[in-house]
Amino acid sequence: MSESPDHSSLAPLRARLAAIPTLDAEALEAEAVALLGRKQGELTMRLKGLAALPIEEKRAMGGALNVLKNELEAAVEARRAELAQATSANANRDVDFSMPGRAQWPGTLHPVTVVVDEIVEIFRGLGFAVALGPEAEDEQHNFIALNFPPDHPAMDMHDTLYLDPEGASRPVGERMLLRTHTSPVQIRVMRDGPPPYRVVIPGTVYRNDAFDPSHAPAFSQIEGLAVDEGITFVDLKATLTHFAQRFLGADTRVRFRPSFFPFTEPSAEMDVGCRLCDGAGCAACKGTGWMEILGCGMVHENVLRDAGLDPERWTGFAFGMGPQRIAMQRYGLHDIRLLYGGDMRVLTQFGGVGR
Ligand code: DAH
Repeated sequence: MSESPDHSSLAPLRARLAAIPTLDAEALEAEAVALLGRKQGELTMRLKGLAALPIEEKRAMGGALNVLKNELEAAVEARRAELAQATSANANRDVDFSMPGRAQWPGTLHPVTVVVDEIVEIFRGLGFAVALGPEAEDEQHNFIALNFPPDHPAMDMHDTLYLDPEGASRPVGERMLLRTHTSPVQIRVMRDGPPPYRVVIPGTVYRNDAFDPSHAPAFSQIEGLAVDEGITFVDLKATLTHFAQRFLGADTRVRFRPSFFPFTEPSAEMDVGCRLCDGAGCAACKGTGWMEILGCGMVHENVLRDAGLDPERWTGFAFGMGPQRIAMQRYGLHDIRLLYGGDMRVLTQFGGVGR
């Protein structure tokens, strides 16, 4: 005779039903298969076992098992839903959607780049084109064609960075060096085609100088050259005065002091009224009320002739300025090394973003 139906035999299943709400996701799925799986599931097996029972027991046991099966299925479903919700809640827990986003830093133009761009733009407005030349230059362009006498001290090994020390024995003029100024590009422009010329030439130049508050071994210059028929010193003054007033403000005062450069005659230096003290005299302008911003002059006839131009027909003016110096004056920087140091607090504060 088979055993009588005993509801207590359902006790282990009831215990497992009670434990379902405590299971983690992995244990829950294992338990669902173990209890309800179609082939080997505990409930399935028991329901199959009913066939062997007498009709009365079959009915009683069958009813109880079906109730239990429904309860188990409901419990598994409920636990699944609970775990799914916990997972998505967890994923969101550390996110504060009200926090502002982290800004992308788009980069900033270097203060010297800002100054160079502005200066070039002003001259472009006056009809000047941009010309460029090599940083590795020969003595011919850097010095000789610019009317430096062959024994000029600027050509000394100690003053200029020669590229090939072994080549020191080469004939003067052919030795290669890092250009000490952008003026050699004047020669390249004039040899490249016939006048008229109106060019500005931005570029890096090199000198055998140690870093100190006002010197750097590599720095920028902007050169200018205008050659045409009938150009006079009036054109030089008018052009450079216009430039200073566009760059620094319409009320900027300028003055020209006589100076000397081998490649210009006459030569001058242009000062602007000190912006920091309004001409009263301060530390920045060393008490003079003026700041020098560029050298200039009328292109020397030897330079024109050497470039193949007839100085009786063609005349012109030239100028050269240092954007680092100008940036220092404009932004009130006391040490040129601030522009080289990579201190982003200095380099990012003068605008120029996204220009
Ligand atoms: N080349 C000069 C220097 O480096 C600057 C300069 C002065 C350039 C006068 C010029 C000029 O074109 O006319 O010191």
